[in-house]
Amino acid sequence: MTFAAAKPTGTKSEIYRELAQQAEGLFASERDAIANAANLASLIWFALPDLNWSGFYFLKSGELVLGPFHGKPACVRIAIGKGVCGTAVARKESIVVADVDAFPGHIPCDSASRSELVVPLRQNGKVVGVLDLDSPLLNRFDEDDRAGVEKLAALWSAASSV
Ligand code: SME
Repeated sequence: MTFAAAKPTGTKSEIYRELAQQAEGLFASERDAIANAANLASLIWFALPDLNWSGFYFLKSGELVLGPFHGKPACVRIAIGKGVCGTAVARKESIVVADVDAFPGHIPCDSASRSELVVPLRQNGKVVGVLDLDSPLLNRFDEDDRAGVEKLAALWSAASSV
């Protein structure tokens, strides 16, 4: 198997469809949650334009703890209900933030971040963490990105054992 997936091209929905296929390929014979998260963070980082962070936080003892990512070093622990990540866990739903400066309590790990998409990760019906994407562009993420990244998060959930 080749590990260097070709960069997807085409419309946004074509890119997400191809990314989903590549993720399924990477997860096909692996159930380790951290390994699959590391590969998914990388896949997203190299496939999607205008990102400055792509990565995971996992719930441990009631708080979010940094997992595999690409981008600059980030905040290690985030309380439930705090920041965009902790709010997505508290609400149990994805959050698209067009302008991080307009989101009360946003936690700025990288001052370059201008917009953000956070998708909860579920296993057996429970939220176990989040997949977080940051962009240096305002309003980088739309509903197609939300749906596309939710699909990738669901593939991770189905393939991995926490
Ligand atoms: N901005 C996030 C913190 C995580 S970093 O963006 C990697 C938040 O407000 O939860």
